[in-house]
Amino acid sequence: MNTENFKGFYKKSIAERQDTVAKEFGLNEQELALLKKEGPLSFAVADRMIENVIGTFPLPYGLAPNFNIDGKEYVVPFAIEEPSVVAAASNGAKLSSGFTTSADEAIMIGQIQVVGVKNGAEAAKKIESKKKELLEFLQTVDPVLVRFGGGPRDIKCFALKTTRGDMVDVHILVDVKDAMGANAINTMTEKVFPKIEEITGGKVVLRIISNLAVYRLARAKTTWTKESLTESTKGEVKGEDVVEGILNAYEYATATQFRATTHNKGIMNGIDAVVIATGNDFRAIEAGAHSFASYKRTYQPLTKYYKDKDGNLVGEIELPLALGLVGGATKVHPMAQLSLKILGVKTAQELARIIAAVGLSQNFAALRALSTEGIQRGHMRLHAKNIAVQAGASAEEIDFVAEKMAETKEVNQAKAESLLKELRAKK
Ligand code: MEV
Repeated sequence: MNTENFKGFYKKSIAERQDTVAKEFGLNEQELALLKKEGPLSFAVADRMIENVIGTFPLPYGLAPNFNIDGKEYVVPFAIEEPSVVAAASNGAKLSSGFTTSADEAIMIGQIQVVGVKNGAEAAKKIESKKKELLEFLQTVDPVLVRFGGGPRDIKCFALKTTRGDMVDVHILVDVKDAMGANAINTMTEKVFPKIEEITGGKVVLRIISNLAVYRLARAKTTWTKESLTESTKGEVKGEDVVEGILNAYEYATATQFRATTHNKGIMNGIDAVVIATGNDFRAIEAGAHSFASYKRTYQPLTKYYKDKDGNLVGEIELPLALGLVGGATKVHPMAQLSLKILGVKTAQELARIIAAVGLSQNFAALRALSTEGIQRGHMRLHAKNIAVQAGASAEEIDFVAEKMAETKEVNQAKAESLLKELRAKK
């Protein structure tokens, strides 16, 4: 490969970049066609979204029905590569008695780091004493946000003792309404920092949003009755035993971070899929969720489970969900717009409530499977389909090969090939 050909890559058109890539990496016609195929996200839009675009990267896009949230029915779009996630989420929702949810106002934190102060606590007090003036100034920074009912709400200061001396951690709290908030917040921290330097006599270094959105939490709660749990195992396991299994699984996650991490990963399977489908920033959501899992405590599961007085299973979730309906990819990605239309959401709070319910349902479904039949049975069918394709099954042959493999619990390429041979010999 000649790295020279990638110098100034950003200046080339998409077609020129594709040709360079084809030449440099020896792409054949089919491979080049993969790059050249334009999907719902047009090249023109993609080229404005990120740098050095050479194509777009599709993911499966599926729908999870059965979500009754605060009395309203939702069908939820997922963008995800992992088998079973969509089915598990909608199954968990179907078995539930419907979700009750809530979401806080969209208060985000902008952080300003002040260094070079002799006494952090005193500098923090100085800033606090000027809070009113600072908030008045911040009101003028984003008049559009203020017009929509958002804007700066509060300023909090924390003195930090570090190995590089005292610092002040200034938190600017802003209601960003239906935006994720990064742009509004980052602009405000950029504009206000000279005033902070003036007040403290220190030097401001970092000015950036915090992804630990502790004032912007969403919650969901539901009950799974013993009867629906019995039914979920086709009567193979009693509902009472499923409840006990899930409570044991939950307790396990509270007791060890190794399990809590995987427990929370399962929650994020559903959450990220909807976050991506709506064009939101899944890294921000992931960072916030995992940080919140250890906020003022050891790392814990983001859900909790207990029994109600009738022995039914109650599940709850609470986590920060900084989601936007305006701005960013949500606005420009046509598939994100389509997802919002399917969801019929009017506010970012409503989207957060739906996504909290999805996380809870996803987690319940994983724990139910893990504590009863094990996760592999559910995964097997879709996995088997993938293996069948890899073994060369045609569209008409996939189901036969996949089902036979799942039945015999022998899901591997050799088995798929031998089943294919058998099937073709019969024809
Ligand atoms: C796999 O993507 C997710 C699970 O590992 C979650 C869990 O263990 O709870 C099944």
